[in-house]
Amino acid sequence: MNDGTKALARLAQLAKLGAYEAGIDRPLASPQERAARDLFAGWARAAGFGLRQDSVGNVYVRRDGTQPGLEPILTGSHLDTVKTGGAYDGAYGVVGGICALELLEARGVKTKHPIEAVAWVGEEGSRFPLGCLGSSVFAGIKSAEDVLAIVADDGVSLRDALASSDGGLLPGVPMRGDRGVAAYLELHVEQGPILEEAGVSLGVVTAIFGQRRLRATVTGVSGHAGTVPMRLRADALCAASELVLALDRAARTQTDAVATVGRMLVEPNGTNVVPGSVTFSLDLRAPDDASLDVIERAFHDAVADVSARRGVTVEVEAFERRKPTPMTPALQAAIHRVAVAMGQKAIDCPSGAGHDAMSLGTIVPTAMIFVPSIGGRSHVAEERTADADLELGVEALAAALVEVDATLGAKGRG
Ligand code: GLV
Ligand code: MN
Ligand code: MN
Repeated sequence: MNDGTKALARLAQLAKLGAYEAGIDRPLASPQERAARDLFAGWARAAGFGLRQDSVGNVYVRRDGTQPGLEPILTGSHLDTVKTGGAYDGAYGVVGGICALELLEARGVKTKHPIEAVAWVGEEGSRFPLGCLGSSVFAGIKSAEDVLAIVADDGVSLRDALASSDGGLLPGVPMRGDRGVAAYLELHVEQGPILEEAGVSLGVVTAIFGQRRLRATVTGVSGHAGTVPMRLRADALCAASELVLALDRAARTQTDAVATVGRMLVEPNGTNVVPGSVTFSLDLRAPDDASLDVIERAFHDAVADVSARRGVTVEVEAFERRKPTPMTPALQAAIHRVAVAMGQKAIDCPSGAGHDAMSLGTIVPTAMIFVPSIGGRSHVAEERTADADLELGVEALAAALVEVDATLGAKGRG
């Protein structure tokens, strides 16, 4: 099996974990997510690489460098999925990372820096409500203590979930006690239409959009659907509906901004009961913070207006704010050089999707390589990337790691 084929076979193995009719469901610290980490660890052991994990479950696979004392270059992505995930979002960067290490090993390519392929935990925030959870702890954005205390909707804390035998930490894998890193590269499927429309197979990410996650709870008055006259209603779902549309309108006023309400809980959720309370998620993205401010302000204005008109109360909680993350120009240039050497056209593109590179980008030089997504589709079962593009991306990552190793080497620790 060549390395490209190996990557495809591994992706197919991972795709079985959590597969059901609507896609792949592999939330953090579930048995299927733990099985994915275990599979990754097994590949590392078989290849003879170093293997470690940390207290929140991130798994690190290490190929040593030649120059003692240098911090490692990290490359990786995540193994968790959204509820209706595809086979490549995250998994591709993890598989690509270890395949790139094996490729360098097989070709006898030495690097000065150690290189570590990483599986970051909990990037999607689909069980524990924090995106890029594992990489945020590694980057020092969140403390491990705070993150372990997070409680999922099912009432389980991350600490307990990671202590469990079916979803927890991997037995017998030593801890990576330090947070040493010299640079970070992440390989990912684009999840949008830019590369496919341009007819190119490689994208060099320029920046990742800023992102805010909020939660709104609308409280009205529940009652009998047949007897409460319209003039006396404080229907929480009608109020929430107005707020969702106000958010949609606000996002449309800002160039390249997007806003999504993807999750809503209606109480008591009965056909013949006036909704008494509604909780919904808000996900805002934009290339600049100013646009996010405009959208968030417009939402708060709508809250004031709707509450007054409909006699409901609305509580808004902001629990995640990430500024736009520019990628490091020297590393972007290194990826472009690699593409030229491979005879490939690569184009610059932004990322509307969030990535663990947002966390690493706050502490070290960071860059991302994209390959095209067919039809631009992701976070759905139909997520696809052509096999040839998947294989090309792994080759590009391996070459980029070598190029970045040389670039950093020229400047010491970089
Ligand atoms: C992760 O996929 C995100 O962009 O939310
Ligand atoms: Mn995702
Ligand atoms: Mn992802």
